[in-house]
Amino acid sequence: MPPLASPLTPVVVTGGGSGIGRASCLALAEVGRPVAVWDRNGDGAAETAARCAEAGVAVHAAEVDVRDEAAVRAVVADAIGALGAIGGLVHAAGVPMGFTADDLGTEEFRLVLSVNLEAQAVLVRELLPALRAANPGSAIVGISSIEGLIGHGNIPAYTASKHALIGLTRSLAARLGPEGIRINAVCPGYIATPMFLPTVEGNPETRARFERAIPLGRLGEPEEIGRLVRFLCSDDASYIHGTALVVDGGVTAVGGQEYTPR
Ligand SMILES: NC(=O)c1ccc[n+]([C@@H]2O[C@H](COP(=O)([O-])OP(=O)(O)OC[C@H]3O[C@@H](n4cnc5c(N)ncnc54)[C@H](O)[C@@H]3O)[C@@H](O)[C@H]2O)c1
Repeated sequence: MPPLASPLTPVVVTGGGSGIGRASCLALAEVGRPVAVWDRNGDGAAETAARCAEAGVAVHAAEVDVRDEAAVRAVVADAIGALGAIGGLVHAAGVPMGFTADDLGTEEFRLVLSVNLEAQAVLVRELLPALRAANPGSAIVGISSIEGLIGHGNIPAYTASKHALIGLTRSLAARLGPEGIRINAVCPGYIATPMFLPTVEGNPETRARFERAIPLGRLGEPEEIGRLVRFLCSDDASYIHGTALVVDGGVTAVGGQEYTPR
């Protein structure tokens, strides 16, 4: 077995200003990994970075729209200047958006694909030289969803983007594996973040319906995803590559259907 590097290299986290991205930043900072917190919400990114700095790590905070390739290129150079070679990428920036069939193929449909899927490809391309420089131990994590494994009729663009992100992960695993750069996807279920909470807040019946679909009987917390992201970025996950790990309290184990009532 090759020696483990136990990398404490910096990790870029997109969508780091909120929810799962923020929880990932905090989990990484907790074990001493410098973090570059990127988000289109600059205030959110700055707040996360400040909380990570309290843990004693070097930080880089940037307001960036991950759809803007020139801006991504600039912020990559800026982060490398501030933190050195980047050894990890977590793409947690994402947008949901519900649709009717009339919305198929519209500008909004493309927006979801560009943030959730295409941005990961651009980020990997732009960060690859740094990930190579930081190797061994470099790793990439994309936040897919259980909607990357099953389909719900009201969110076609989201579902397509999350399925495709797993496909991109598998293809890049074949490409990057020989270089020792690992890549994986995480598939969260229903997680209590600003993206999901509006679906259930103020609506106890809807909340109860979701909870009945979850064998563990509750929504997930963003920290429960952040800890898995941290693990996947570490050498403890040295042989986990090209896969999609489900963290959903059992939703997909029971087919995404309403679970046995308690
Ligand atoms: N919350 C859930 O139940 C759940 C379940 C499965 C997967 N996910 C996925 O997890 C990821 C994080 O979602 P979350 O629940 O933490 O949501 P969130 O809304 O709390 O965080 C998403 C972050 O992405 C940022 N963002 C959106 N578009 C961006 C862009 N173009 N450029 C830069 N930043 C941008 C937002 O500003 C926000 O801070 C998303 O990819 C989401 O699809 C969430």
